Amino acid sequence: MLQQRHLLGIQGLSKAGITSILDLAEQYATQNRSSQKHSAALSGMTQVNMFFEASTRTQSSFEIAGKRLGADVMNMQMAASSITKGETLIDTAMTLNAMHPDLLVVRHPHSGAVALLAEKVNCAVLNAGDGRHEHPTQALLDALTIRRAKGRLHRLTIAICGDIAHSRVARSNLLLLGKMENRLRLVGPRTLMPGGIAELGVEVTDDMEAGLKGADVVMMLRLQRERMDGGFIPSEREYYHRWGLDAAKLAHAKPDAIVMHPGPMNRGVEIDGVLADDINRSVIQEQVEMGVAVRMAAMDLLARGLRARPSGVYV
Ligand code: NCD
Repeated sequence: MLQQRHLLGIQGLSKAGITSILDLAEQYATQNRSSQKHSAALSGMTQVNMFFEASTRTQSSFEIAGKRLGADVMNMQMAASSITKGETLIDTAMTLNAMHPDLLVVRHPHSGAVALLAEKVNCAVLNAGDGRHEHPTQALLDALTIRRAKGRLHRLTIAICGDIAHSRVARSNLLLLGKMENRLRLVGPRTLMPGGIAELGVEVTDDMEAGLKGADVVMMLRLQRERMDGGFIPSEREYYHRWGLDAAKLAHAKPDAIVMHPGPMNRGVEIDGVLADDINRSVIQEQVEMGVAVRMAAMDLLARGLRARPSGVYV
């Protein structure tokens, strides 16, 4: 069971909490590969997915995860045009709350919006990505993928490359992989590095060769154009030339280094298409697979917490 009611970020998770989610997810990963994919951890419960931002894999992953655990799953289609902060978001939350959902999965373009919403409802809230702040289940699925590929989740050299400044994936990964005592490197153009990042105890470079040297894991990120208001990169061609991952740049990493990308990927912008599909190096498909397992584990553990509350009434 987790200590907290919500899963809002890696920041609030202990090392033990992270490990318990990953261990349970490992069991669900095995179950998901069998022909009997169903269990009853969320039976009788209602899960509502509210995505105020576009999503392919995260939303479908949460939906499949909930269905495999026996929940009633509803996807609310949130039109981008209706997004406003404050009253509107809270009104939506209150309306939903009145329908007594047990789990609310929320993605929102504003950092902090999901935590705000969590204060207003009685159910468990899972953050499926808030602005450039956090995306905890992505970091957990990345951690599980790394642990399976490398046999451990500590003392690894991990290079996170590309648009760090706008990336909630990078932020959640930094927090998780840092807690687990890994050597972290951030690689990308200076314009895409958040200010004050070096103070977090990570190595920062704008040179791919230096950044990838001896790395066990190379994690590429998408250019978050929707969060940029101006020219952060000279051109996509130039960006690919300097920071796009191809076989030549990967040769600086360890010979058995794995290549990751949270998706959606821009082939030929941040990663070479052939490399992305190379099953000997790329674990991108395994990341998607582990996403379902990790979300099942996270929702299962939160549901155990809900069921443990007296009289089953969430107050
Ligand atoms: C990421 C996201 O939405 O933050 N995608 C995902 O959840 N798989 C990364 C991205 O959009 O680039």
